[in-house]
Amino acid sequence: MAATVCDHPMIRQALGELRKKETPPLEFRSRVGELARYLTYEAARDLAVASYEIETPVMKTTAERVAEERIILAPILRAGLAMIEGAMATFPHAQVRHIGIFRDEATALPVEYYVKLPRVLDPETLVIILDPMLATGGSACMALDAFRRRGVTRFKFVCLIAAPEGVAAVEACAPGVPIYTASVDERLNEKKFIVPGLGDAGDRCFGTT
Ligand code: PRP
Repeated sequence: MAATVCDHPMIRQALGELRKKETPPLEFRSRVGELARYLTYEAARDLAVASYEIETPVMKTTAERVAEERIILAPILRAGLAMIEGAMATFPHAQVRHIGIFRDEATALPVEYYVKLPRVLDPETLVIILDPMLATGGSACMALDAFRRRGVTRFKFVCLIAAPEGVAAVEACAPGVPIYTASVDERLNEKKFIVPGLGDAGDRCFGTT
């Protein structure tokens, strides 16, 4: 499976607060941000590091830093907005490129409404797509495709919860793209909502219904 389920106790605890239906928007957003921080940290685990020389107050020694030079964080609007701050705490020098996609309520198919990217991006750029929910995977695949059409080849996908159907869809549309999530839930229901899920992340973040 392409999904890495990050099950650290702090992640499990934050996820429980998100799932609870009584969690109000203020705390919901804060928990989304907290999880975005944890999950992007996990997503950074396999990044290459480079050595360099430093001098401590005691002596010269070798230190390391992340060698990755070009990282784009790509939140899928709207709900992905709540993940930016947490993700930027992990990658403070990343560019942020917003992608506007919503899921048509009648068909559950993704609709693109805001993609303002350069025609060509450096193929070495690592694009980390952020979206709290991976349900059918339609939005994820559309976002991945927007970057692939501009030459990007390196991706990670960070979500808070996923459905098995969404994981399979990303595996099919973008083989090899790793997914980092706090949970792969049971399934999608007849409305294509994740079960047990957490409801509509965008609405719960921003107090809309
Ligand atoms: C939700 C969610 C994902 C998408 C997941 O967004 O934030 O972007 O649906 O569904 P999928 O995997 O089946 O494509 P929504 O369409 O509700 O838009 P919003 O963030 O503006 O509320």
